[in-house]
Order: sequence, then C-alpha cells, then structure tokens
Amino acid sequence: MTITETPPPAHAATVGAPILEARGVTMRFGGLTAVKDVDMTVREGEIVGLIGPNGAGKTTFFNCLTGLYKPTEGVVTLGGEVLPPKPRAVVVAGMARTFQNIRLFANMTALENVMVGRYCRTTSMALTSILRGPKFRREEEATRARAQELLEFVGLGGSAEHLARNMPYGDQRRLEIARALATDPKLILLDEPTAGMNPQETKQASDLIFRIRDSGLAVVVIEHDMRFIFGLCDRVLCLVRGEVLVEGTPGEVQSDPRVIEAYIGGGDDDDDDEDDSAPAGSSDRASHSTEEKL
Ligand SMILES: Nc1ncnc2c1ncn2[C@@H]1O[C@H](COP(=O)(O)OP(=O)(O)OP(=O)(O)O)[C@@H](O)[C@H]1O
Ligand SMILES: [Mg+2]
Repeated sequence: MTITETPPPAHAATVGAPILEARGVTMRFGGLTAVKDVDMTVREGEIVGLIGPNGAGKTTFFNCLTGLYKPTEGVVTLGGEVLPPKPRAVVVAGMARTFQNIRLFANMTALENVMVGRYCRTTSMALTSILRGPKFRREEEATRARAQELLEFVGLGGSAEHLARNMPYGDQRRLEIARALATDPKLILLDEPTAGMNPQETKQASDLIFRIRDSGLAVVVIEHDMRFIFGLCDRVLCLVRGEVLVEGTPGEVQSDPRVIEAYIGGGDDDDDDEDDSAPAGSSDRASHSTEEKL
C-alpha cells in the first residue's frame, strides 16, 4: 500500500473567507438517497478534494451545487448569496464546472468552444449581434483575445483552430477547463480532470490546477487518483454512500483506516458499481486504477 508515499502538498499561501457553503444537501432519487446531509465549506484560495468509491454521490453532489439538480433538501450559497438551482444562474453567480463525461461542442474549434463560455459575460449578444454594430465587433474581438489567452493558459495555444472532436483526450479535458475559466468564475468544480490521462498529463493537470488557484480561484476537485488528490489539495472530504465519512487534511484522510476500508474492503459499492448512471468512459478508467494507486 503506497498511500503514504505522496509528495507534500503545495498548500495555498493564503486561505481566505468562505466562498461556497453547502449545508445539509440531500438528493433523493425515488428510494435511493444519493447524497445525504452533506455540508461543505470552500474558502477563497483553497483546493478541496472530494473522493469516494464509485457511486458514492460525488457527481450528484456537484450537480446539486451547480443547479443541474435541485437538491431534495439543503442550501447552497456562493459569496453569501443563496444560489438558485439553475445552471445558468449559477455560472453567472461565479461557479463553473467541468464534467466527468466531457461535454464539448465537438464540431466547433477549440477557440470557439472557449468563446462560448465567455458569452455569459458579454452584454451585446442579443440585439447587436443581429445588427453587427461596432459594439458587437469590439466585444467579439475581446472575447476572441480572451479565449486565446485562456487556451495558452491551459497549454493549448497552438490548438485554437483544431476541431474539438479531433483533439486528444487529455487536450479535450484541458479545453473544458479553459471554457469553464472563460466564464470568469470565483470557484471551479472539476469532475475527474485526469481520468484517462497518462502520468505526464496528470502531472501537467496538477500544475495547471495550482496555477488556477494562484490566479485567485477556489477549486473543488473529484478524483480517484489518490496520489494526485493528496499532492494537490488543502483539504479532502471522503464521501461514502452519499455521506461525508471523513474530512481533513490530506495527511489525516490518507491515514484514516475508514477511508482505506471504504475503497478496498468495505463492499460499499455492492449495489451501484454496475448501476452507475454516469455515462460510461472516464470514471471506469479512473476507478479501475484506484486500488493500484492506493
Ligand atoms: N439521475 C439519476 N437518477 C437516479 N439515480 C441516480 C441519478 N444520478 C445518480 N444516481 C445514482 O446516485 C448514486 C451516486 O451516483 P454518482 O454518479 O453521483 O456517484 P459518483 O460518486 O460520482 O461515482 P463515480 O466515481 O463512479 O463517478 C448512484 O447510485 C447513481 O446510480
Ligand atoms: Mg462521478
């Protein structure tokens, strides 16, 4: 078991005021409680990890935070304001995300994909885009320039004109991050950002997330790769069967026997390993590597 062999994390220099607060978040699907009474606080400048076996409720919790699901119970606030359970309103309020199953516009270029993210912050889309007046052209130019800047930030500066569907898997994941950043978030949620990546790409992803944090954003990241999580995060929550089993520093969480048990000995995924409603692909690849990496 190499769980303790992770490098020491590069913690946030300054951790500020709470930005995201989730209180008592519960999500039921008929008789199944996928998320049960989860509290989570994320502070400015923090990278928080969310781990747990397949079917633990991690993605469902993200869906509750981002308005894709309306939680059965609970409240989510961003910067002290209660978030309405509507995805667009959540983005406008300052929370962006990426998806476990990549959701890009496959037939658009990398640059266009990022520009789409930016449109929630531009003002002249409706009328001036019809009239194509000078204000529209100025905004369009600024949007294009910002999108190119973000592509460079994530290491895809040379891929601006590539169609998303032709890009390698790891690049598509970085492109999704660039598109999320284009919405000017205060907080970004990443659902398995390294799934399907090789070790070198995973290291680059880790460096990118540190740079995102250093640019002033808070980050919440779901991952099955323990080395990645414990090397990256200031704090980690472990969800099991929809509930927070353990929360603490990487050192506390990785040495907690309940966490190890949840992954390799507990049979916690007996009823939903094969029943995961999340689209196939990335999570499978990631989860199969969990035991190796523990
Ligand atoms: N829309 C839905 N309707 C019914 N059940 C759902 C729905 N979405 C998720 N579930 C169930 O909720 C539980 C939690 O699923 P979720 O996808 O959140 O797990 P996860 O922790 O993200 O797992 P993984 O690590 O495999 O991605 C699972 O039992 C899943 O089948
Ligand atoms: Mg998931």
